[in-house]
Amino acid sequence: MKSNTHILFSLIIASLIVISGSKASSDSDSIVISCGLPYHVGVDSYGRRWRSDLRFLTASTNSINSTAQYVDPSLPSQIPYLTARIFTSPTTYKFSISPETRHWLRLHFYPSDYSSLDPSDAYFAVHANDVSLLHNFSSYATAHALTQAYLIKEYSLLPIKSGELNITFTPSLSHGSYAFVNGIEIVPMPEIFKPAKLVSSERFIDVGSRQLQTMFRLNVGGKFIKPIEDSAHLSRTWYSDVPYLLGLSSEVAYGADENVTIQYPSDMPHSIAPLDVYSFARSLDPNASANQNHNLTWEFLVDPNFTYVVRLHFCELEFDKINQRVFDIYVNNQTAQENADVLAWTGSKGVPTYKDYAVRVTDGPGDEKIWVTLHPSLSEKPEYYDAILNGLEIFKVSSDDKNLAGRNPTPSDMLLKDEARKKNSHSKINHAPIIEAVAGGAVGVAFAVAAAVCFVAYRKKRSQDYKNNSDARSWLPVYGISRTPSKSTFSGCSSTVSSWRLGLCRQFSLQEIRYATKNFNESQVIGVGGFGKVYKGVLDGGTNVAIKRSNPTAEQGFLEFQTEVELLSKLRHKHLVPLIGVCEEHGEMIIVFDYMANGTLREHLYKSNKPALPWKQRLEICIGAARGLHYLHTGAQSPTIHRDVKTTNILLDDKWVAKVSDFGLSKTGLDLHQTHVTTIVKGSFGYVDPEYFRRQQLTEKSDVYSFGVVLFEVICARPALDPNLPKEQASLADWALLCQREGNLESIVDPELIGEINPGCLKKFLDTALKCISDYGPDRPSMGDVLRNLEFALQLQENPGGGEHAAEKKANDALPIHNAIAISDLGERSPSTTADEIDDSSVVFSQIFVQKGR
Ligand SMILES: *[C@@H]1O[C@H](CO)[C@@H](O)[C@H](O)[C@H]1NC(C)=O
Ligand SMILES: *[C@@H]1O[C@H](CO)[C@@H](O)[C@H](O)[C@H]1NC(C)=O
Ligand SMILES: *[C@@H]1O[C@H](CO)[C@@H](O)[C@H](O)[C@H]1NC(C)=O
Ligand SMILES: *[C@@H]1O[C@H](CO)[C@@H](O)[C@H](O)[C@H]1NC(C)=O
Ligand SMILES: *[C@@H]1O[C@H](CO)[C@@H](O)[C@H](O)[C@H]1NC(C)=O
Ligand SMILES: *[C@@H]1O[C@H](CO)[C@@H](O)[C@H](O)[C@H]1NC(C)=O
Ligand SMILES: *[C@@H]1O[C@H](CO)[C@@H](O)[C@H](O)[C@H]1NC(C)=O
Ligand SMILES: *[C@@H]1O[C@H](CO)[C@@H](O)[C@H](O)[C@H]1NC(C)=O
Repeated sequence: MKSNTHILFSLIIASLIVISGSKASSDSDSIVISCGLPYHVGVDSYGRRWRSDLRFLTASTNSINSTAQYVDPSLPSQIPYLTARIFTSPTTYKFSISPETRHWLRLHFYPSDYSSLDPSDAYFAVHANDVSLLHNFSSYATAHALTQAYLIKEYSLLPIKSGELNITFTPSLSHGSYAFVNGIEIVPMPEIFKPAKLVSSERFIDVGSRQLQTMFRLNVGGKFIKPIEDSAHLSRTWYSDVPYLLGLSSEVAYGADENVTIQYPSDMPHSIAPLDVYSFARSLDPNASANQNHNLTWEFLVDPNFTYVVRLHFCELEFDKINQRVFDIYVNNQTAQENADVLAWTGSKGVPTYKDYAVRVTDGPGDEKIWVTLHPSLSEKPEYYDAILNGLEIFKVSSDDKNLAGRNPTPSDMLLKDEARKKNSHSKINHAPIIEAVAGGAVGVAFAVAAAVCFVAYRKKRSQDYKNNSDARSWLPVYGISRTPSKSTFSGCSSTVSSWRLGLCRQFSLQEIRYATKNFNESQVIGVGGFGKVYKGVLDGGTNVAIKRSNPTAEQGFLEFQTEVELLSKLRHKHLVPLIGVCEEHGEMIIVFDYMANGTLREHLYKSNKPALPWKQRLEICIGAARGLHYLHTGAQSPTIHRDVKTTNILLDDKWVAKVSDFGLSKTGLDLHQTHVTTIVKGSFGYVDPEYFRRQQLTEKSDVYSFGVVLFEVICARPALDPNLPKEQASLADWALLCQREGNLESIVDPELIGEINPGCLKKFLDTALKCISDYGPDRPSMGDVLRNLEFALQLQENPGGGEHAAEKKANDALPIHNAIAISDLGERSPSTTADEIDDSSVVFSQIFVQKGR
């Protein structure tokens, strides 16, 4: 079983290499290793090559390699996160590095179930030679408190004269504790640190002689910058600043217009920050009278009892003269800089610069924060009351005893409260990883209906603005690359909108969305998924809506957001979740849907304290969902494959009408045929069509397969994949096929339903479901056939015995002819496939490993 797993896994990685092999990394002096990788080299989704860690371990090492059982949808790549090396005793990696330069050291942690170890048991220390990097570190507790699936710890190590770097992992002494790591990067870097003045004092901190830890690195007002896009091959990741912005201010993000060329001054190397950092910025709404009372503030949580260096990156993009934009800079409410005038510092527009400020964070209650505030300077009477910031980094400075380790963060009260609330209502967020993994990526997205919302209520004025910007072709860089930061467009939504959307859906301002969600209050969260969070909100003074906010740091999310909006704005159907509008201001990507009062189908089937749904109602819900999918496959302008059919993506409105949702993975039209070869299999555990997995060929029949699994979930009231069950039962689809072969399929039916289902209806329903999960795509019925068969099953339920003969004939008509004869031996796998050679458990695992992106 294990070896099969790994054959499959390597196949996937091999395919990754094929896809992205052309982008070999050029950072040749770097050491980039994926720990526990069972072969020499793997390539991540950015095209970087990760080597096996074996040759860096001391020979006597007592460690095991393991593979994560659950792939979190928010992981950016399978490599290095899916494999780990696990240590139960102190273990050292030895690296030979250049003795002259500083190095970035990055440690990657994905707290998950490895070799049946509990991720919450891993407490350990990490040292780099004599520097203490982590102490009593729980990646599980840290990831939980930060609501992240994985962690990257980045350090800047001083040059090591011996050229010998030992990285030692030491499990803590408490019983059952172990250490693990998924990836290690060691990247040579130039000396980019110099003494920084401590705010509110005359003291300077000699940063250049210290070890540092990167706490935050943001492209303010700009987009996510991937490691491969960083300057000087330093492979840093720059995130959006949106999550750290404080309060409801009137700030705006914008990019350099085409007349501004960014030119690094001769004394500033490109390695300080890439071009994209300096060509985007955030400023205040340039309205003088209001700005006098406005601050631009970011808030960061840090470890107390350390000194930090706050590095601010600036580049003037709009003004040409001194004293046009002058502002004061505060760090933790202390003045760090008065009368900052970027143009005065650099001498001209488009020239980058940066400033470092050191701040001491003490260890009192509530101290573990860093605030960075920009406020228009009043004393200099500048032309505009405004401020600007392009990038921001915060580094922790090692203490005198060479320590960088802080405490594990504790979850915020808000998060705990929210989880308690979720637990009480048995909704599905943040439970034990595996089981919830099975439940699917986008969890518990509950929407509810508010029927009459005017889709065409877009604003004349706004659409006018867009027309002016219609040269803005690309939709993805929502941060406004093409937007001219002229006064006239400052007021409205963001920049770039393709024409197809004009008038099709309503454009909301960020202000409206923030108001509707109480400024994205955690208490409003009704679902979390790979894309970010879903909030419940109230718009237009009483309309309940579900607001899906893409996580600005989830780079994967942009494409899926685009796909979803594009599809939803074209598709209107009673059984698809209706789109109300979007908001894409300030780098946010937000979709507003009708709110579905009865939540997901799944929460009415199992693992909740909701009353079991009567059979007839379950059947009607299945029919509704089948109609929605049938429409997607055939009725819409161009055929669309949903790709993520599962019970959490079938939502129920207040009248229990089923609505298919979550089109983030969907593929449509031409796209379909182009993706046959290279599409990386996406979907959710337990639902992915084995044929799609084997051949990477996407057809409508993949949705039919997933829908078959849904039908079994509905009638068996159990998850599609439940690894806690015995091996042969874990995958519902395989279990159903096995029971069918053994002739006791009816034994898996939900006991609550026994006696309630008419035998004719039961047979028809099970036959249809089995047909859907046929191993071989062409053996599966079309969605239209499935729909007719389910309608017929409903007829048998409502009208038992009545004209069974005629009805049977009708049903056979409903099935495609070459399928009709096979209906009695549905359980047999088609001899034309090779699936028999793969044992059932590997199919389960195949479905686990093929996850990517969500
Ligand atoms: C561990 O690595 C070896 C090769 O180094 C490989 O054969 C084995 O399958 C790996 N085991 C796991 C659980 O990844
Ligand atoms: C690294 O560890 C080895 C023993 O495992 C030791 O001999 C060597 O001195 C260590 N190097 C440093 C720089 O600590
Ligand atoms: C380790 O951290 C946990 C909290 O994450 C704490 O409860 C425990 O007391 C710490 N142990 C030590 C030895 O500091
Ligand atoms: C760029 O420069 C050209 C020529 O000087 C000018 O016509 C144009 O308006 C400028 N564009 C912007 C956005 O300032
Ligand atoms: C500037 O702000 C003031 C006060 O909020 C407002 O009355 C005025 O209309 C604004 N001016 C512009 C040009 O937006
Ligand atoms: C800064 O001041 C504000 C109010 O004046 C306060 O709420 C905030 O906590 C302070 N921030 C820090 C980091 O001390
Ligand atoms: C802006 O921030 C400074 C420093 O934190 C504070 O003194 C001032 O009161 C703030 N102003 C507003 C309007 O919040
Ligand atoms: C703060 O850090 C210093 C070392 O810089 C250490 O000696 C001291 O014990 C720490 N204080 C607390 C409360 O952890």
